[in-house]
Amino acid sequence: MKRGIEFLAIAILVTLAMACAPKADSGAAKQIVIGANIYSFADNFMNGVMKPELERYAAGKGAKIEIVDSEGQQAKLNDQIDVFITKKVSVLAINLVDPASASAVIAKAKKAGIPLILFNKEPTEAGAMASYDKVWYVGTNSAESGIIQGQMMVADWKANPSWDKNKDGVVQYVMLKGEPGHPDAEARTRESVKAFVDAGIKVEQLALEADPNWSTQHGNDKMAAWLTSSFGKDIELVICNNDGMAFGAINALKAAGVKLPLYGVDALDQALTHIADGEMNGTVLNDGVNQSRATLDLAINAAMGKNVTEGTKWSLTTDGSKAVRVPYLPVTPANYKEFRK
Ligand code: BGC
Ligand code: CA
Repeated sequence: MKRGIEFLAIAILVTLAMACAPKADSGAAKQIVIGANIYSFADNFMNGVMKPELERYAAGKGAKIEIVDSEGQQAKLNDQIDVFITKKVSVLAINLVDPASASAVIAKAKKAGIPLILFNKEPTEAGAMASYDKVWYVGTNSAESGIIQGQMMVADWKANPSWDKNKDGVVQYVMLKGEPGHPDAEARTRESVKAFVDAGIKVEQLALEADPNWSTQHGNDKMAAWLTSSFGKDIELVICNNDGMAFGAINALKAAGVKLPLYGVDALDQALTHIADGEMNGTVLNDGVNQSRATLDLAINAAMGKNVTEGTKWSLTTDGSKAVRVPYLPVTPANYKEFRK
């Protein structure tokens, strides 16, 4: 009897010890650590839409994400990547500061053997994406936002003959441009105006000012200066590459007691309020929520050594850009309520 109890006690102890022992190579999932950045926490869209969704979605997937602020400096981002590599993160999710500096970033990831997802700023250097088999891009088709914004403006221009203040049949516009060299800024600037030309409507650019930070302050300062310039009274349309700059322009217009047709891109919550209040005529949804989710779906798959789109709703482009492109959507006074959160 005594021996039987001893045996039972030993059996229980062994079972307990086995249950408590660390599981070596038992197939238990390894914690995925994502080293990420935002090119500048001062950016309305990146900080207001993408950062919170990256954090929320990573948590939902049980992944650990660290997001650092690159403060608009590519050199700072390069150092931050070195730190992530030293910490041996499972995967990198990087928002380039300078879209022309991708190859240095890709080379770092390649040397460390860490997969890399670039998002929001598409590399502009030819061959950069092909230089590493574990780099992918998540963003949009930049031209699409300009085309949609342009088509919206053309339709509204045609429907509102009073917008042609001097009745010369020409659209006298001012343009608030984002970062020079940023594919989104370049494409929006070009395509929004091209939509008028394609519709047979003449355009005249009265002024254009670019801001690498796409900021509200820039929109406010430039619009205020234009309104008091020699051509101030001739402005018929305000085209903004993003909502952040549009908000500044709206402030300046209000301060001057002037009302002008005005369009942005991003569909931030504040833009929907401006549309509701009749201070903005339209914007274009830049779907940062889905761009964040796609970035992390690809990152997590890459970290696990899987095919990046496996089990996701995303598909990669087949043109060599190795990209997931999330569509843009028009947001107008007729449909803005659908975009309210
Ligand atoms: C957004 C801008 C933002 C920029 C940052 C663009 O896609 O529309 O609001 O400033 O990305 O890279
Ligand atoms: Ca005119």
